[in-house]
Amino acid sequence: MITIAIDGPAAAGKGTLSRRIAEEYGFHHLDTGLTYRATAKALLDAGLPLDDEAVAEKMARDVELAGLDRSMLSAHAIGEAASKIAVMPAVRRALVGAQRGFSLKEPGTVLDGRDIGTVVCPDATVKLYVTASPEVRAKRRYDEIIAGGGAADYAAIFKDVRRRDERDMGRADSPLRPAEDAHLLDTSEMGIEAAFQAAKALIDAALKKI
Ligand code: DC
Repeated sequence: MITIAIDGPAAAGKGTLSRRIAEEYGFHHLDTGLTYRATAKALLDAGLPLDDEAVAEKMARDVELAGLDRSMLSAHAIGEAASKIAVMPAVRRALVGAQRGFSLKEPGTVLDGRDIGTVVCPDATVKLYVTASPEVRAKRRYDEIIAGGGAADYAAIFKDVRRRDERDMGRADSPLRPAEDAHLLDTSEMGIEAAFQAAKALIDAALKKI
């Protein structure tokens, strides 16, 4: 069983990269951010508070991994709410349990998130920490919105990226940080194809050793 752990801050390109890697190797893929988003959406939809840990834990336990769909969970308000409930240890325990179960699938899995290499799958076969400067990540998000025909404000997006980083890196339980044995991949100056090739070279080298 092979597990590829991919961590990094919001908008670093982890999602696209993880999907391509899963496709390349024929592995199952789980975007763990969606588990936090689905929990947050369930609370918002039910009109429940975002600061009651017992209620949020119950919602987290009911999340079905098979039904997760980013297009239903991409709203900005859901991302904000997800980042708030992600600080709660009981929510994390519930979701991490489900994520670990997923990581056992054969022939292999790719999990992406914030704490995969450090907490969810500390024994992963390969760990990548994908990052890019906050300026580049904000620009990518800005370009995405414009390309989709929307209106975007770069300064507001930049502030948002920084605030999300602070919350994800500053929380006490499972903060975002590279695992000691993670390979760092800074995509600030790379397109998706170059990032994929760099990741593939690291993964192929690790697979040769097992
Ligand atoms: O990657 P994303 O934007 O979909 O993640 C939404 C939030 O979920 C993010 O702000 C932090 C949280 N998250 C987490 O704490 N741990 C993970 N493994 C994945 C996401």
